[in-house]
Amino acid sequence: YGDDVCLGLWNPATKEFRTLPPAPFEIKGFFTNHDQQFGLGFDLLTLDYKVVWIRVFWDMPGQGANNRVYACVYSSCNNSWKHLTPEFPPSSTLSAPLDATYLNRVYYWLCRGLDDIYTIRSFDMDSEQFGEIQVPHIPSEHWGTLTLHGGLLAMLTGDPGKPMTSIYNVWVMKQEGNWSKVLTIQPHIDAHWPLNIWDNDKMVFEITETSQLVLYDPKTRQVTDLGFQLDLFIAGCWVFNYKESLVPIKRGNETQGEDNAVEQIERYFYTIPMDEASS
Ligand SMILES: *[C@@H]1O[C@H](CO)[C@@H](O)[C@H](O)[C@H]1NC(C)=O
Ligand SMILES: *[C@@H]1O[C@H](CO)[C@@H](O)[C@H](O)[C@H]1NC(C)=O
Ligand SMILES: *[C@@H]1O[C@H](CO)[C@@H](O)[C@H](O)[C@H]1NC(C)=O
Repeated sequence: YGDDVCLGLWNPATKEFRTLPPAPFEIKGFFTNHDQQFGLGFDLLTLDYKVVWIRVFWDMPGQGANNRVYACVYSSCNNSWKHLTPEFPPSSTLSAPLDATYLNRVYYWLCRGLDDIYTIRSFDMDSEQFGEIQVPHIPSEHWGTLTLHGGLLAMLTGDPGKPMTSIYNVWVMKQEGNWSKVLTIQPHIDAHWPLNIWDNDKMVFEITETSQLVLYDPKTRQVTDLGFQLDLFIAGCWVFNYKESLVPIKRGNETQGEDNAVEQIERYFYTIPMDEASS
């Protein structure tokens, strides 16, 4: 059932890494195939990092199109998981991790239902409640991703894959479900894939042909190479909003006698060390 999942929490600011214990999903044999999604956040009341893991399981083919959604939440304060009962519509699918963001202790996922309509699902780290929010009115065949803009939840939408004529819009949510368009960008650059917005009015793109990561300033039309050498063998490149947190993942004596966090991560996930991968 894909239960060989390895999960770990890394705080680059405190240079800590902790592996997570297995989650107690009680999956009975008749389910096959699944879709899953993770969210990470912080509960200010308990100074607790939380990881929410949602899994969608479908029944065996030929037994109807039923699916069930299961969820568990992990708390770093006691290093343990517990079950949640999400009330998602059964037809919903979850979306790729690039369509997610986090703001004010709420994690947001962009989801596309079977009817191709976007919706946003949320998880509140304090109350541990799931929610749902409407997206701005955009044609459903359009591309969209969630991000942050000016301290608000934002959605970047567009029609990528049309170099020189692609138009991107940035929408922000000022009140729940009330979206306003705050920015329109038409980049005059080569074939590209949009990744995120930056510094309120600039955009980060991956140039398709060269795999360069560039910053585009619509005011000056300047394209700046961000200097990342994207590895063509590693599929996918994401640009996330990151806010440093100095709250340690581990408490008390747990942190003693440990190696470098990056080495621990490489060992735990059996990854190839960076310097070997690039040589
Ligand atoms: C761990 O802590 C969380 C609160 O952060 C609590 O909801 C949960 O029940 C605790 N689990 C155990 C096993 O004590
Ligand atoms: C949405 O926000 C706009 C301006 O911010 C306001 O004029 C409008 O009344 C709001 N609509 C709803 C349904 O709250
Ligand atoms: C860490 O603290 C716990 C409880 O205070 C104790 O049981 C454990 O033996 C300690 N571990 C080490 C490595 O000192």
